[in-house]
Formats: sequence, C-alpha cells, structure tokens
Amino acid sequence: MKFGTQCVHAGEASDHSYGSHITPIYQTSTFVFDNAEQGAARFAGEEEGYTYARIVPNTPTHAALVDKIAALEGAETGQTFSSGMAAITAVALSQLERGDHLISTDVVYGSTYGLFASILTRFGIEVSFVDTSYLEKVRNSLRKNTKMIFLETPANPTMTVCDIEAICEIAREIDALSVVDNTFATPRFQRALKLGADVVVHSCTKYVGGHADLLGGVVVGRKEFVESMIPVVNYTGGTMGTHEAWLCIRGLKTLHLRMEKHASNAMKVAEFLEGRPEIEWVRYPGLTSHPQYEIAKKQMSGFGGMIAFGIKGGIDAGRKLMNSVELCTLTVSLGSVDTLIQHPASMTHANVPGEVRTKMGITNGLVRLSVGIEEPEDIIADLDQALKKV
Ligand SMILES: Cc1ncc(COP(=O)(O)O)c(C=O)c1O
Repeated sequence: MKFGTQCVHAGEASDHSYGSHITPIYQTSTFVFDNAEQGAARFAGEEEGYTYARIVPNTPTHAALVDKIAALEGAETGQTFSSGMAAITAVALSQLERGDHLISTDVVYGSTYGLFASILTRFGIEVSFVDTSYLEKVRNSLRKNTKMIFLETPANPTMTVCDIEAICEIAREIDALSVVDNTFATPRFQRALKLGADVVVHSCTKYVGGHADLLGGVVVGRKEFVESMIPVVNYTGGTMGTHEAWLCIRGLKTLHLRMEKHASNAMKVAEFLEGRPEIEWVRYPGLTSHPQYEIAKKQMSGFGGMIAFGIKGGIDAGRKLMNSVELCTLTVSLGSVDTLIQHPASMTHANVPGEVRTKMGITNGLVRLSVGIEEPEDIIADLDQALKKV
C-alpha cells in the first residue's frame, strides 16, 4: 500500500463483537480473564493478550496505534507513551547504564537536553552534545563506551539537519544504537529506519496527533529492541491515555494530506520571509540557502512545516512581531493545523543555560514558526502586517 492508503487503513482494528467500523476506545484499566489459569498464563507471558492497561500491550486501541505508526515508519513494532519525553526517557533508561556514553545532537528540544544533561548524568551516564551536522565531529566524539547516538533532525529550533545514513553507519561500526527523533519530519517526509536508524521516536503531541489537543509519544523499531524496553515501560508507567491513542489514530488518517499542506505553505512562508528587509536570516530545509540543503534534499522527501528565522533588532523586534500577529497563535508546541509562533530562548529552550543556547545557535533573536494548513496567503498577510509594526 502507498503511504496515504496506509495512513487511512493500517492498523485499524474494527470490533467484531458489535461490528464497529472504527477502532473502539477501550476505556478500561484492566481486562477480565476467562479463568485463573489464563490470568496466570498472561502474566507469565505464556499467552498473548491484555492484562492491565499499564502493562504491554496496554489495550487494543494502543495496539492499533502501534500497528499504524509502525507501518508508516516501516518498523516491525513499537510502543506508545504518555508524551514524547516519556518515550525518549524509556529509550534511554532501557538501553543505557552507568558508565555508558551517549552522543546527542547538540541542538535538541529543551527537555531532551535537560533529560540528557541533568538526569542521565546523575546516574553515571556520560553525555556529549555534538554538532552532528559535521561527520568528523561525530567521529571525534566516539569513545570505547559509546552505546547510543541520538539524532534530532531537523533540529528544534534551529532546523539544523544531519546526515542520518552516514551517522547510523558510524553507529553500526561501533555497535552503538542509533536513535532518531523524527518529530519534525514525520514518516511522510523522512524514513529514518530505511536510512539505517535502529529506532525512531516521536512526540505524538505534534504532527501525529496534528490538532494540538493531546500529549503522546511513540517509539518504533525492531521487535527485539521494543521487547527490550518492556521492563522500563511496565515499571515506570508512562502510559499513553486510551483516548489519546484513539486521537492519534484519527490524526494519522490525515497525516499525508496535512504534511503536504504544511510543507507547501512553509515553503511559501519561508520564501516570503527571505525576501523581507526586516528579516536577517531564515532556516527552512527546503531553501537552497539552508546550510545543509543538500543533505535535506537527499534524505527528506519534503521539508515539513517548521521554520526558524532571525529578525533585525533581535529579541525586542521579535517580541513586537509575536505581539502583533493576529492569525498566528503565540504558543509553544508545533505540528498543529493552525500556525503557531514562539520564542525558543525564553520558552521551549529556556531551561538550556544561556551560554549553551548561544553555542547551539539558539540566539535571542530566533523566532520559531510552525506553519499550519490555513491558506498560505492568509498566513503571509498576517506576518506582513505584523512585520510592518516591528
Ligand atoms: C523534537 C521534539 N522531540 C520531543 C519533544 C517532547 O515531546 P512531548 O512534549 O510530547 O513530551 C518535543 C516537544 O516539543 C519536540 O519538539
């Protein structure tokens, strides 16, 4: 099946008892056993089936979502979580131990940075933040104990792109696990597993859900890998809500259409911004001016809906712009059907120390735009009127 058909059909689990067309929401915390022997067999892992909604495989609604997103990413299977951060935490806690070394893209979502820099290090895990857009910097950071390379591409919020295929090859050479946060690109535009990654993570809060009305996360990869996460999944309990799982299934049915509109709008908005005298620079992977445009073109089949730009006059001008927009919404998060604007240095990445932010390129003048699926003329008209007030 082609991608769009998979979005609509993959994983759907209609209920044969009542003939429901749509996958039902199994809003139950626990499952009834036919007899005591069956309960024991399920808990012993001798019989497949559901037991308790925190315990893998959670509920049939979760299982349907896993099947759908695994199909879209070309993975064997996966696991859902209560948020993107719960998903990333479970990957780290299930694969790393004291004395291991993790290499992470230096520009990552602020809470991912916080998890790696201030929580994993407390448990004796060494962490290096590396500009993964330079392969030699990745190679120079390898240690004997490097167990995982975590990539975020395009990176939040600078839109820096790194070469997934080349870095996953480096990871394979040293037997390290390669993990890609595919939240920005989504499987519509970037198939990280095909490019050689072992594991893909998503914040489902963004494009997977697509409507800014849920929190969720997912991890996909080989069955053996996903099974290796089970103790952490079951014992830490970052379980996705069943209603959220259902909303993700519904969101994914239109992922292909939404992403195409996000991307075509973003290209138009990026070109508009690039042509404006008030704007200092624009980073969108679809622009030839993007420093890693060639890598983006090689590994992405579209460039997504996220744009970063710098405005002349720095943060004061940026604040004026954000306070002047009328159609665009001033809020964090991304990947919603409506256009969102925010200031990473004081919002999504405020927890990253100032000097680290500057080193990463998250300057005080950087504004992040999550371009929605409205008509592009209206988004541009709104930015135009707001820029005139700066
Ligand atoms: C790239 C990326 N990864 C992970 C996350 C974390 O996701 P969540 O907010 O669902 O925990 C975010 C959140 O903004 C993100 O942008």
